[in-house]
Amino acid sequence: MAGVIRDPFGRSLDYVRISVTDRCNFRCRYCMPAEGVAWIPHERIMTYEDILFLCEVLTGLGVRRVRFTGGEPFVRKGFVPFLAEVRNRFPHLAMAVTTNGSFLEAWADRLPALGLDSVNVSLDTLDPSKFTAMTAMGGIDQVLRGIDAVLAAGSVPVKLNTVVVRSVNAAEIEDLVLFAGRKGVLLRFIEFMPLDGQVWSREEYVPAEEIRGRLPAPDAWLPDEAPTQGPNGPARYYVHERTGQRVGIISAVSDHFCGRCNRLRVTATGEIRSCLFRDDSVPIMEALRMRDASALQALILAAAAAKPREGGTGLPKETDSPGYRHMSRIGG
Ligand code: 5AD
Ligand code: SF4
Repeated sequence: MAGVIRDPFGRSLDYVRISVTDRCNFRCRYCMPAEGVAWIPHERIMTYEDILFLCEVLTGLGVRRVRFTGGEPFVRKGFVPFLAEVRNRFPHLAMAVTTNGSFLEAWADRLPALGLDSVNVSLDTLDPSKFTAMTAMGGIDQVLRGIDAVLAAGSVPVKLNTVVVRSVNAAEIEDLVLFAGRKGVLLRFIEFMPLDGQVWSREEYVPAEEIRGRLPAPDAWLPDEAPTQGPNGPARYYVHERTGQRVGIISAVSDHFCGRCNRLRVTATGEIRSCLFRDDSVPIMEALRMRDASALQALILAAAAAKPREGGTGLPKETDSPGYRHMSRIGG
């Protein structure tokens, strides 16, 4: 097998997040402005054949794990058959999906055959009216039924992701932990990242330390060093000394994990972004459409070479505007 891609700082990039669509049926307030963002026309989006070719070149470069994201990947027609095709063509490629959960009920029985590493479902609140306020359109029942359906179908680990936004769910951290405990699934809290100045505010940001202090009986949670998603995952895990439940806290803002970053991102329009907090990207659409493997390899390596040592995460200075990076376009 080819050697793993390395960046100039010695980090091996063996994990790629690929957005299959910028479109989403939700408008989560930490992700998009309330009025939404303009959808990109279909002809500018990578076709599934484009993405399969990309996976071929990536695996040739030593990439071991891909995650498909959106927008919401299940809104794209043919997503599950596409996953089956990826599995079929790349039997050894570890594969995961990030979703808002609203289509899981319909597809749950098809997931076990795909050999997914994990399905990460966003779940920010258990309160129906807050859920609708947070997502601007989603219904919580549908998502909860989706989670249950995946658990019932079995063989696919479910992880829950909660972005903590002070006025919405900071007071619900305890309830969410208890919910995850009852379901027997891993819950990860994510610090609200200042990607988009239209939606982020300092008042709504809750630091990891505070999240930790809001866990139920905070002293009962001990740091757990056992890695869950390989050595490079950004979450810090805590394990409950009595129940054994684990929770993760992703301190994307307060504690830079750039030194452990092992990933590249590919947007739905075929641009490689080597860092979530940078706006530069390497366009690969032409090489993809030409099925030009060596040009594509060179572009991937160029994107890896451009990966900054640190992305400038952290709180923006009082005077800075965080810019306008919509996660739905970059691929959460
Ligand atoms: N901060 C943190 N996480 C975010 N996501 C989207 N926007 C943000 C943000 N500003 C993540 C959430 C969601 C996934 C799709 O993208 O984890 O679950
Ligand atoms: Fe859609 Fe996910 Fe963004 Fe919510 S966070 S609007 S579900 S892409």
